Amino acid sequence: MSEAARDELLRLDQLAVHFGGRRGKPPIRAVDGVDLTVGRRETVGLIGESGSGKSTLGRAVIGLVKPTSGSVLIGGEAVWDQPRRAQRVTRSRVQVIFQDPSEALDPRMTVAASIREPLRIRDGKRRPEHDDVVHSLLAQVGLDPAHGDRRPHQLSGGQKQRVNIARGLVLDPDMIVCDEVVSALDVSIQAEILNLFARLKRERDLAYLFISHDLSVVDHVADRVAVMYLGKLMELGGADEVIMRPRHPYTRALIAAQPQAVPSSIRQPAPPPIAGDIPSPAAPPSGCRFRTRCPHAVDRCATEEPLFRELEPGHHVACHFAEEIRGGPPTSIAVAGRTV
Ligand SMILES: Nc1ncnc2c1ncn2[C@@H]1O[C@H](COP(=O)(O)OP(=O)(O)O)[C@@H](O)[C@H]1O
Ligand code: SF4
Ligand SMILES: [Mg+2]
Repeated sequence: MSEAARDELLRLDQLAVHFGGRRGKPPIRAVDGVDLTVGRRETVGLIGESGSGKSTLGRAVIGLVKPTSGSVLIGGEAVWDQPRRAQRVTRSRVQVIFQDPSEALDPRMTVAASIREPLRIRDGKRRPEHDDVVHSLLAQVGLDPAHGDRRPHQLSGGQKQRVNIARGLVLDPDMIVCDEVVSALDVSIQAEILNLFARLKRERDLAYLFISHDLSVVDHVADRVAVMYLGKLMELGGADEVIMRPRHPYTRALIAAQPQAVPSSIRQPAPPPIAGDIPSPAAPPSGCRFRTRCPHAVDRCATEEPLFRELEPGHHVACHFAEEIRGGPPTSIAVAGRTV
């Protein structure tokens, strides 16, 4: 195995997840052919408007939805091809934390019982040493031992998300899929929780797939950034490269819509937003999926799908004209809502 492959924790090969598609209806192509890797101790941010397929991709990674085609490899193992028991072991290496900290917790369970539950399920019964693990995790996520006896309704939103983080860590994963993990929190709490993720990454050698519609959140944590639109990746590269020097018109539009993500000293002036919503993933535009909203679109964009090309080492872009557009004016689109 090569050095690079050894260091690769997650690999998606042409991952596709389609929903429905029976009785003559076209399927919803939520994820439609994505290649992506996450290395050990790496944070990959996944951004894109609501409806671009980010959560479905995350759910396929953790096994909540079965890929229609393509594969999910965790530590080199094609998870869905493994026998059931082996799948469970492989999957335990990747945990997930969702947006709504309340929904993920059982209101009847104490905090300690919620954190302990994955251990109890794994071992088939409660063991005394589980309590030590819970105790230590509470401290690691910044909660008091006394919080262990509380129920979710006795905690603030930020505290609940800390409990979810402790629960996500209890099986000692190598990677966590974070799906909009700070979106439901007050802005003042968001930074605290993002700092906690950063500390845990250092202390526990974690990798993250950090999904967010909010560019400033991803900018805060990511080593690399992937930009998704209508089920496909439009751009992928180092976080600084993608955020400071975006090459795809869609990325440029996302950044122009959230100018606070870029320091004012290097911010480019943004023209008025382009109107329009993200098209239906049941009927994606021919050629380039972004063409119906792209100010640079020409005939070729409707007939020929752009390759996901490596423009510079490690920087991939799916646009026929990425080189030419480089020096052009930044564009912006009306990003539908800020919710997911
Ligand atoms: N279980 C499902 N059944 C049918 N369509 C779905 C399902 N889950 C997601 N979708 C559709 O797939 C597309 C992508 O959704 P999602 O992955 O939630 O995007 P994002 O997280 O980027 O907002 C949306 O059009 C959504 O309506
Ligand atoms: S391929 Fe054409 S439509 Fe697509 S992003 Fe590039 S210029 Fe725009
Ligand atoms: Mg989502």
